[in-house]
Amino acid sequence: SSIVVLISGSGSNLQAIIDAVKAEEIPGEIRAVISNKAEAYGLERAKQAGIATEVLSHTDFSSRESFDQAMIRLINQYDPDLVVLAGFMRILSPAFVQYFEGRLLNIHPSLLPKFQGLHTHKRAIEAGEKEHGASVHFVTEELDGGPVFIQAAVELDKEDTPESLAAKVLKQEHLIYPIAVKWVLEGRIQLKGGVPYLDGISL
Ligand code: GRF
Repeated sequence: SSIVVLISGSGSNLQAIIDAVKAEEIPGEIRAVISNKAEAYGLERAKQAGIATEVLSHTDFSSRESFDQAMIRLINQYDPDLVVLAGFMRILSPAFVQYFEGRLLNIHPSLLPKFQGLHTHKRAIEAGEKEHGASVHFVTEELDGGPVFIQAAVELDKEDTPESLAAKVLKQEHLIYPIAVKWVLEGRIQLKGGVPYLDGISL
């Protein structure tokens, strides 16, 4: 099976998936890493792993739709079974989501449905949460609203800062994202009618 990963920044989640592929924990290969930011360090990680890299800068496009159409064409050049958003900081248009729905994943740094959107760690601390974490979900038209099928939780300590909490959550992200990708590529998890099924049983 083939994977295309979309990034915008550091790519530590990409690295976790690269490492899992190398360790043969994932039945697939990453065919390309595409970033909307030319300076994303994740592009360096891809190059070091011998993976094709592409940059598609949204500033080169006059609208979200035209950027998304170009992104669909670029992804299709690699004909992936699965498109993985890993720190990809763009809101995708309904046309893009509809095109890839069912084979488009994202990881969000919160225990969804709590804390959709940005600055999740700061918000969790301010809300006095006892726990926080990360969620992997199929991407749907609702931002951070798609069906979740794997999560990891961490406890908040009273001295936690947004930075210390983010670091704890990121470690968990690196554990659950490769598992999520593996389950989808194995066909164990699939999205049918907007509902995730594990081995045919709706979650
Ligand atoms: C992570 O917090 C992830 O949850 C979010 O983007 C952040 C950076 O991820 N999606 P990465 O290091 O670029 O993979």
